[in-house]
Amino acid sequence: MKSPRPSPLHPLPPLPAHRLTVLITEEDLRRRVDEIARELATDLRDKDPVVICVLKGAFVFVADLIRRLDLPVTTEFIRVSSYGNNVVTSGEVKLELDLANSVANRHVLLIEDIVDTGLTLQYLKANLAARGPASIRVCALLHKPANNVKLTTIDYVGFSIPSKFVVGYGLDYQGYYRNLPFIAQIEDLQ
Ligand code: IMP
Ligand code: MG
Repeated sequence: MKSPRPSPLHPLPPLPAHRLTVLITEEDLRRRVDEIARELATDLRDKDPVVICVLKGAFVFVADLIRRLDLPVTTEFIRVSSYGNNVVTSGEVKLELDLANSVANRHVLLIEDIVDTGLTLQYLKANLAARGPASIRVCALLHKPANNVKLTTIDYVGFSIPSKFVVGYGLDYQGYYRNLPFIAQIEDLQ
């Protein structure tokens, strides 16, 4: 029997198969997201905040967080890139998708998946500050303190982690693993 030929229109990409070690479980994530949501609800009460989700990595965290947040909020999305498909930053941040609405005079809650060198966060804060918001608070699910060369303030941190490359719960390696419900470390990256 002849083996089926891959369709030229839909060639299947090779699936990644790395050794993953769970670093933060689904249960840990749920508990911490709850805690942060409670803290935010207190700090942002009556402020009519706008939540800004930094795509793509923060989409899972933001989706969970805002559903635990006992506050009226609006949401915006922004996409920046600095990594491309690499595991280390290229050192240059590019704005790839801008907010749909003005944040002038609004209390901004900027939500990041992870702060590594701090370069992306530094760029985003400067970019948003130029739009005249009433205030900017930053919330990052993960923080790698060892690599934080740009000293930018993070107001809410989910977990501080060692400076290993991690995936899951929105974070990717070459586009994959965002759908894992936990955070895992990739053991076998070159
Ligand atoms: P920074 O500019 O070096 O702070 O990098 C921040 C961005 O790099 C994050 O928003 C992530 O998209 C990406 N990033 C940094 N570390 C990791 C990681 O361990 N796994 C997946 N993405 C990462
Ligand atoms: Mg990424």
